[in-house]
Amino acid sequence: MSKSVLITGAAAGIGRATALRFAAAGYIVGGFDVDRDGLAALAADLGSRHVTGELDVRDADGWRAALDALTSRTGGELDVLVNNAGILRSGRFAEIPLADQQRIIEVNVTGVLNGCHAAYPYLKRTQGAHVVNLASASAIYGQPELAAYSASKFAVRGLTEALDLEWAGDDITVRALWPLFVNTAMVDGMDIASTRSLGIRLTADDVAEAVYDAVQPRRRLGGVHIAVGRQAKLMRAASDIAPSWMSRLVNKRLTS
Ligand SMILES: NC(=O)c1ccc[n+]([C@@H]2O[C@H](COP(=O)([O-])OP(=O)(O)OC[C@H]3O[C@@H](n4cnc5c(N)ncnc54)[C@H](O)[C@@H]3O)[C@@H](O)[C@H]2O)c1
Repeated sequence: MSKSVLITGAAAGIGRATALRFAAAGYIVGGFDVDRDGLAALAADLGSRHVTGELDVRDADGWRAALDALTSRTGGELDVLVNNAGILRSGRFAEIPLADQQRIIEVNVTGVLNGCHAAYPYLKRTQGAHVVNLASASAIYGQPELAAYSASKFAVRGLTEALDLEWAGDDITVRALWPLFVNTAMVDGMDIASTRSLGIRLTADDVAEAVYDAVQPRRRLGGVHIAVGRQAKLMRAASDIAPSWMSRLVNKRLTS
């Protein structure tokens, strides 16, 4: 039977590119999102072998329905879960309405929590299963003008590390991808100090390729965090060796 992948936020950007990448590799794709028009376009591009549907990742019941819809075609198995859906608001912390910041935490953190919890039984019964969570280079050091978003990605980082250890005995690897800025709708028109100093250099296809690579067998022995792109790799390596005062200084320079 073909391998299967469930991808959230699959109607646009990195999620859509990832859905097409896995479909091209022969996987049965379950692509879910809240964007109906984007889902219709994805369904047309994927074809009838695959599953698309509405899922708000904040909705735990919705997760069960999405998993049912996909795994009814795969004998109850799920090879890969990609927790990709995410939202961002940039700007000074005190100027972003509290409700918007709470929503970032609900989608980016509770959404991933819901997904991992609901998918676990399916992943557990599948040999060599994987979870790939979209974290971000903003989980290396807290980012001004992206405070809630950055905090949400720190939560994803912690959850990924914990579950990778907890689920190793179940033959499930859990990985976090850390791209820097990617040219998608998420950063359209975003003009903050860090985008001005670092630029937007990655494409959705670059990240989709990294997601696909993260589930290859050789990655089972690699690290839990995967920096995507030269800039993120450099920042990650530097943060591993720099004393905390230096990390603060570098981040201050890059973000002001
Ligand atoms: N674009 C970047 O610069 C960048 C950098 C690092 C990490 N990331 C992460 O990559 C992931 C994908 O980002 P993107 O750039 O493709 O964004 P995007 O805005 O292009 O696409 C996000 C998709 O998620 C969907 N979505 C939003 N809320 C949802 C919800 N509650 N339930 C289900 N789907 C929902 C949207 O409808 C959209 O289709 C996110 O987790 C993001 O934080 C993005």
